[in-house]
Formats: sequence, C-alpha cells, structure tokens
Amino acid sequence: MNKFVMAMDQGTTSSRSIIFDHKGEIISTGQKEFKQYFPKAGWVEHDPIEIWETQAEVTAQAIRQSNLSAKDLVAIGITNQRETVLVWDKSSGEPIYNAIVWQDKRTSDYCEELKTAGKDDLIRNKTGLLLDPYFSGTKIKWILDHVEGSRDRARKGELICGTIDTWLVWKLTGGEVHVTDVSNASRTLLYNINTLEWDEELLSLFEIPIEMLPEVKASSEVYGNTKCEFLDHEVPIAGIAGDQQAALFGQQCTKKGMVKNTYGTGCFMLMNIGKKPVISEHGLLTTIAWKIGDKTTYALEGSIFVGGAVVQWLRDKLGVILSSKQVEELAGKVEDTEGVVFVPTFAGLGAPYWNAYARGTLFGLTRNTSDAHIARAALNAIAYQTMDVLEAMQADSDLEIKELRVDGGATINDILMQFQSDVLHVNVVRPDITETTALGAAFLAGLAVGYWEDTKEISKFWKKDKTYEPNPDRSKVERGIADWKHAIKTIQFWTKR
Ligand code: G3P
Repeated sequence: MNKFVMAMDQGTTSSRSIIFDHKGEIISTGQKEFKQYFPKAGWVEHDPIEIWETQAEVTAQAIRQSNLSAKDLVAIGITNQRETVLVWDKSSGEPIYNAIVWQDKRTSDYCEELKTAGKDDLIRNKTGLLLDPYFSGTKIKWILDHVEGSRDRARKGELICGTIDTWLVWKLTGGEVHVTDVSNASRTLLYNINTLEWDEELLSLFEIPIEMLPEVKASSEVYGNTKCEFLDHEVPIAGIAGDQQAALFGQQCTKKGMVKNTYGTGCFMLMNIGKKPVISEHGLLTTIAWKIGDKTTYALEGSIFVGGAVVQWLRDKLGVILSSKQVEELAGKVEDTEGVVFVPTFAGLGAPYWNAYARGTLFGLTRNTSDAHIARAALNAIAYQTMDVLEAMQADSDLEIKELRVDGGATINDILMQFQSDVLHVNVVRPDITETTALGAAFLAGLAVGYWEDTKEISKFWKKDKTYEPNPDRSKVERGIADWKHAIKTIQFWTKR
C-alpha cells in the first residue's frame, strides 16, 4: 500500500515525528531537542510555542526526508509527555504561562495539605492516582492562583487548558478542536476513571472551572483535520494516547497481564489489567490505557522519575562520560559496584514509595570507589527501581509476570538489560522496533481510519530482537538487592527543607 501513517511523539526533551508504512516499519524520522527551563529549585517548565514550533519543524523534516507529501498520509497519531499542562487564551492562542512539566514539584506543599486534610482516598478511588505534584490538576490550580484574573477569565470561557496532546491538536486544527483522550485525561487528577467523566467534586476541590477543560474522546477516532501551512493537504488526526500508554499498545501488550517497561528520562512500567480498574494497594497508579470504540482498557503503572536521566547526570554534571552511550563502557570497567549503592532520586521518589522531597543519595563509598563504580551503581539503580515496581505489580494483580517487554533508549545497553533480567529473575525481551511509543500512536490512528483492519492485523508486526535470560546463580544479586532495600529505607529521612 502506498499510503503511510505519521506519529507525532512530543516528549519531555525532544519533539519527534515518524512516518510508518503499512508493515509498521519506519520510513523516516524528524527529531529536535528543545529548551528546559528551571526557574527555581524543583521547578521545570517548557515554552509551549517552542514545543509547537519544534513539532512543526520535525514533521516537515520527516516528510521531506521520505520524499512523500501530506497527501500520502492517511492519518496522524499523537503521543505526548503526560501530565505537563498549559493554559492559553482561546482567541489569541497565546499561553498565559509556560507549560508546567510533569517533573515540576512546586505543588508539593499543597499536596501535603490535601493529604493532611484526608483527601487521599477520595483522589485514589476516583482517579486511580495519588496526591503528588506529578499530576496536572495541582499545576493548573497553581497557574490560576498565580496569573492574575485567570480563574475568572477561565470561567467566562476565555481561557482554556490542556495537556500537550490537546495543545498540539488545537494548533494543528487552527484552533478549531479542543479535545484530549481518556489516557491523558486519566493523568490529570480531575477525571473519574470509573464514570469516564470530568469529576465535579474534584474540579471544585482544585477550583478549576469545567469550561476550560477539553472534551474527552476515545484514543482511536478522527478528531479533526489538520489546517496548517507545513502540511499542504488536510490530514485526519485520528489517534491520541499518552506516551506510556502508546508504548503499551505499540508493544502489543493488548492482553491482560502483559507488561512493558520504557527506559526514557524516567522509567514507566505498565501492565494491562483489562476492562476493570483495580485500585493499587502497593503504591502504583491505576490509569486508563486506551479506549477503542466503546471498550476501555485499564493499566497499573509504576512511574520512576529518574531512569536515563541518571546517565545524563553522569554526562552533564559529573562529566565522567562524554555521551550517554559511553556509560556502558565505563560501567563495564568494573565487575560490580563494590558495595556502592546509588539512589538517584533527583526529582523525588516515585512508585511505589512516593516521597516528593527525597534527594539523590550515594552510599558505600570507599577510597577505592571510582567513576566506574558510580556508573555501574547508576545502571543498577535503574534496574532496582524497576524491580520494586514489578514486585508491587505482582502483589496488586496476583499475576506472576513471566516476561518483561522493554523499549526506549537504554535498552541497547547490554549490561543494564542483563542485570535487569538477573534482578527480576524473568526474561527481558527487546522487540525489533524499539520506537514503540510512536508506533502505538500510529497504530491507534491507522485503526481509526481503516488503514489497519483490527488489532489482530497489527499484532503480527511485533517481532523479538533479543531475549535476556536471568543468571540462575542469585547469590550476588541478592546481596545487592538487600543493600538497595536498605538504602531506600534510609533515604526516607529526606523531608521538606
Ligand atoms: O509521565 C511522564 C511521561 O509521560 C514522560 O515520558 O518519555 O517524555 O520522558 P518521556
């Protein structure tokens, strides 16, 4: 078939557009990093205009590279960094404040206040989430509290808000369509995952006017057509999903009990739990994976805030490597960490422990500790955090996980993948196409326009590249696991300062 699907993958550090063919293979890619703003300790912002401009640029780039034109695209699927949120003027299209990024901790104290007021259960039962600054709701409230007159203007319908998917669709359709999908809505703290509606009680708790929220749609349907200069033909926008849910779909974890872990800036492990939400009792989130037709699929999620970001830190702040790839060589210089444990909680501790004030901590240093031991401990920390989440997932779901499907940049790192398999004691499987996030969004869009008939057809495209099998001798990993558990307990001493 001479037609193609494009996925726009708007991530935390870069915007990407990828064109896929009918076999789910990549035809071309455009990618550009954009600036991160850190106005205060713990604050992280993005410029929404820069997000839009880089997305537009990489889309044009992907089309140019493929020698195709917009006419050759049957649909566009959007996937995005989740929770990051912005408010903009409906008439002028001007954002009233930068986008507040998912990693931003400025609402930590407010979340603590709500916990003290006993709101945890209400939030958990309605949204599947926890009271943590990670999610969009308290960020929207912060903007409305701090930009003068904004709450009133929002009530009058002059200001609207949305996560990044909503912003991109609004820009792509020339300001005509204001929507999001269930997977993104389920990350806001405002959406009831049982009734599938914006929740009035929560909106009033956060003082967020319902008028400013987007309409919530399924993850695979036509939301509108593009109307923008860099696409010389109108293309239907037909799929939306938060990046982690899109990766779950791209990994073809379409059956209950299937699990994937994405190793990006953070690590996000999701398990398909089927058609009913299960509220976690072990510090995980319950979230909507996707809605196709009238069928909603739910997932349990463990969100780890620092995954690949620890390697960036070794590169940018410690300067012990020049490129992220070199971490494998450096870590490979030593057999093990010699007892060094690195808990890289630079952005607070996420699942399953949740401590927004936790700081990164290094344990077990000796005169012999070198950059190689620290690099190895950094890689181990990614694997241990994943292990903690997987244990919680097994406990919540009562399912034994036999295989972990992995994707994301760090999955090319053999030391990390082998260690991951060793500590989990399960097979770790890397697919042929590791661009599963974009692929998931492309699948959702292609399904909506009939480019692919059904999920059975696309399931054929998932192929294994490599399986890492656990080392049967557990003596060494068990010592390391015990040290890690001890370190995690110890870092709970970090509180508000
Ligand atoms: O929840 C945050 C997540 O969606 C960010 O993903 O890949 O942009 O780091 P990523």
